Amino acid sequence: MPAITASAPGKVILFGEHAVVYGRPAIAVPVNEVRARATVNADPRGVPGTMRIQAPAIGLDALLADLPDDQPLAAAVSSVLSMLEISRVPACTLRITSTIPLASGLGSGAAVSVAILRALSAFLGQPLSDEQVSALAFKVEKLHHGTPSGIDNTVITYVRPVYFVRGQPIQTLQVAQPFTIVIGDTGIPSPTAITVNDVRSLWGEKTAHYESLFDSAGQIARQARQAIESGRPEELGALMDTNHSLLQEMGVSSPELDRLVSAARASGARGAKLSGSGRGGNMIALASPDTASLVANALSAAGAYRTIVTTVHSK
Ligand code: MEV
Repeated sequence: MPAITASAPGKVILFGEHAVVYGRPAIAVPVNEVRARATVNADPRGVPGTMRIQAPAIGLDALLADLPDDQPLAAAVSSVLSMLEISRVPACTLRITSTIPLASGLGSGAAVSVAILRALSAFLGQPLSDEQVSALAFKVEKLHHGTPSGIDNTVITYVRPVYFVRGQPIQTLQVAQPFTIVIGDTGIPSPTAITVNDVRSLWGEKTAHYESLFDSAGQIARQARQAIESGRPEELGALMDTNHSLLQEMGVSSPELDRLVSAARASGARGAKLSGSGRGGNMIALASPDTASLVANALSAAGAYRTIVTTVHSK
């Protein structure tokens, strides 16, 4: 059997993180500059039924049978085997590598799952459909953090800008005029599960206040959709600024994120906000092809661990 490789991109949330967990719309786009990759190699001399999983970035080199069921990589593998009703895999090694920073809001967990699901199902001769891949990746997301909205697995599976409402069929966005985003990484890992749980506790304590913050974020996502689909991306800047203020009020920003957001605005970005679950991880800024490198340099000077410039378009 030939080696099979599949890869999946990272993602950023443009608008509506956290509020999306509570049923409000959000917008996310793929980030093709970073990727997770899964390769399955047959082990002709291996014992049938044994699979080795290697993920050097997290120091993992183990047999599938020795991993707990809720280990996310093992869970992704097992979900493919059970969907395809395969009880005994041909001896093989699954190797996972990724350039998506972990716990940074760029969708590393979902991208690794999608790459595994695609590579393994293709290796087994029964490639899964996008719908199946997204559904299984969502199940694994639940292990990463208990109450995911489903936005990460959706945008990463379909590799298109999406307007996402929890529980509703996927709506892809038509980007009438491409626009440029600069991503700045605080370098501070921030597991989504912890921030999402904190927001849940705060929402429980001050439900009316949080519901109104979520409503405002949802309204921004709706306005952003119109701006994107009608070719007015410059309007996204002000919407990003307002969304960032709402996220600050939700308690998910941090001094490092605020510093990068201010630096981006001061260097000519049209607007900026944190992106993803917050506290650490990444922020985004709306730039133009001309200002992108200025904004990226300003972010580095303000302490960004790394920057990525990406263009948002329909495909
Ligand atoms: C994480 O990328 C975005 C959050 O809204 C969580 C989720 O939607 O599952 C913070």
